[in-house]
Amino acid sequence: MEEGEEGEDYLFKIVIIGDSAVGKSNLLSRYARDEFNINSKATIGVEFQTQSVDIDGKEVKAQIWDTAGQERFRAVTSAYYRGAVGALIVYDISRRTTFDSVSRWLQELSTHSDTTIARMLVGNKCDLENIREVSVEDGKSLAEAEELFFIETSALDSTNVQKAFEIVIRDIY
Ligand code: GTP
Ligand code: MG
Repeated sequence: MEEGEEGEDYLFKIVIIGDSAVGKSNLLSRYARDEFNINSKATIGVEFQTQSVDIDGKEVKAQIWDTAGQERFRAVTSAYYRGAVGALIVYDISRRTTFDSVSRWLQELSTHSDTTIARMLVGNKCDLENIREVSVEDGKSLAEAEELFFIETSALDSTNVQKAFEIVIRDIY
C-alpha cells in the first residue's frame, strides 16, 4: 500500500498475467475505457492504465499492468511484478491449454512477488459457452486448491469485468 500525494488516496499495482490471446488487454480496456477490440494485436512489452475506484467513499487508484503472454514479447519479468499487490491470472474458457498453463503463471507470480498478494483466477470469454473446454467446476476447484478468488468474465459482453477488478482492489484495500 502506498500513500498518494494528498495523503488521502492509495495507489495499488495490479498485474494481469496469462497465456497469449486469453483477453488480458481487452479485460483492461473494457474495465478502464469500456472498449473492446475484436482484432486486437498481441501486446509487445508492457502497458498500464491507472483507474480510480471509489471504495467506501475513499478514492483508490489502481495502476493495472498488462504484458505479453508470449515469452518473446515480454519485458524484464522482475520489473513487471515488482511492487504488485494484486494479480489477475487469466485463461480462456474455450481453450483448455490456457487453463493448463495457470499453474506455470502462479509459479512465476510466487517467484516474483510477496505471498500476501491478492490473486484472482479469471476464466475469460464466458460468452463462448458453445465452444467451452473448461467447466466452471474445474475453474472453481483449481481456485480453491490454490486459494485464489475465482470469476468468469467476458470482455466482449462486459460480464463481471468490473467485478473481477474490484474484488481484487477491495481485498487489497
Ligand atoms: P497477448 O497480448 O498476446 O498476451 O494477448 P491478450 O491476452 O492480451 O489477448 P487480447 O486481449 O489481445 O485478446 C485476444 C483475442 O481474443 C482478440 O481477438 C479479442 O478480441 C478476443 N477476446 C478477448 N476477450 C474476449 C471475450 O471475452 N470474448 C470473446 N469472444 N473474445 C475475446
Ligand atoms: Mg495483450
